[in-house]
Amino acid sequence: MQQTEKPWDSLWINGLLATQEDGYGLIKNGAIASKDGKIAWLGPMEDLRDSPERLAKTVYDLKGHCLTPGLIDCHTHLVYAGNRYYEFELRLQGANYETIARAGGGIQSTVMATRAATEESLLQQSLARAKALLAEGVTTLEIKSGYGLDLETELKMLRVAKRIGEVLPVTVYLTFLGAHALAPEFKNKPDEYIAAVCHDMLPEIVHAGLAQAVDVFCETIAFDLAQAERIFKTAREFGLAVKCHAEQLSDSGSARLAAEYQALSVDHLEYLSESSVEALARSGTVAVLLPGAFYYLREKNIPPVELLRQHKVPMAVATDCNPGTSPVTSLLLMLNMACTLFRLTPEEALAGVTRHAAKALGLDKTHGTLTVGKVADFAIWNVEHPAELVYYVGFNPLVNVVKGGNVCHSRVCGNE
Ligand code: NIG
Ligand code: FE
Repeated sequence: MQQTEKPWDSLWINGLLATQEDGYGLIKNGAIASKDGKIAWLGPMEDLRDSPERLAKTVYDLKGHCLTPGLIDCHTHLVYAGNRYYEFELRLQGANYETIARAGGGIQSTVMATRAATEESLLQQSLARAKALLAEGVTTLEIKSGYGLDLETELKMLRVAKRIGEVLPVTVYLTFLGAHALAPEFKNKPDEYIAAVCHDMLPEIVHAGLAQAVDVFCETIAFDLAQAERIFKTAREFGLAVKCHAEQLSDSGSARLAAEYQALSVDHLEYLSESSVEALARSGTVAVLLPGAFYYLREKNIPPVELLRQHKVPMAVATDCNPGTSPVTSLLLMLNMACTLFRLTPEEALAGVTRHAAKALGLDKTHGTLTVGKVADFAIWNVEHPAELVYYVGFNPLVNVVKGGNVCHSRVCGNE
């Protein structure tokens, strides 16, 4: 007897689906199907047109667990060597981030360690951090360069970042952040360094296929508006997306400038002004909030969340995982902090690591919601409601992850 072809590869049944399409987008007692790595169908169980076994080659029972899109950490610097515990100690004794940076510590010390590390050692150190993020349901991860500040090391960092996406079940989005800090070789010559970033480094990085976006740290201790604009112009000439570390320590107007270059996102934003919020609303740029850095630096100014809300600027939330201002590898903790520190609602916070995080990476057509045709990247949680993901501190209710339709690790945390 001829076996009729089953329409779907896999089908997950009996779950609470949080589609994230509009708010939580809850579907109670729902089912979701994948075919060729994409979402083929989703809806309430009673709308399944046949028995699960006849519809899919493999059927998984969610047993009432909650299924969300795989989480997206849209701002990290997780490829680096060494660490900066001593700087943490200095800060507790009263030194601030700017003083440490001006004294040659801060980013510069990570640059030295990253230049000195072998590619293999850099990979191993960085993989440990990526695995910690994945253990909390992250399936897409942005990684920035910016601790090399010379072509060779920037390429090394980006190769390592790309490799992480090859050895782990995660999509890695590559961002070139050559304009993170002034390279020591260009002391007192920031314009010459920016010229080197634009004319010597960027073309090589594009040629090697190692960048999708370009970022710049626009700040009094980093680069000014004119220098940022040269970076944005060059990025656009090469067809790369634009991102900006903006208004973290002061209001420089960099978010507004980035908006003029149709930036995908502007990130940090503690000192963002209302006119800049309006500019972001016009350009459709995502505001990426980084509560880890805010907390770690004991910053007092919170980003203007109410204005962003009023102007309907999409807000994303990310770890900013980096050795200096946010040695954080927990996106779940950032969900909580976005609410407790910045007063986001749990619903907004969750959109910030799904739908809006996808938009911050220009991946909103394929990722970030449970929608037919999008990639079948899911996180499965032992929670009654998605708001529980935001509520806990230090408790990980992840049961399982699905990447491109494939189940990655069952009972990863023993929470089944
Ligand atoms: O996003 N703001 C600039 N860059 C990082 C900090 C990097 C570091 O201190 O090593 C950030 O906070
Ligand atoms: Fe950052």
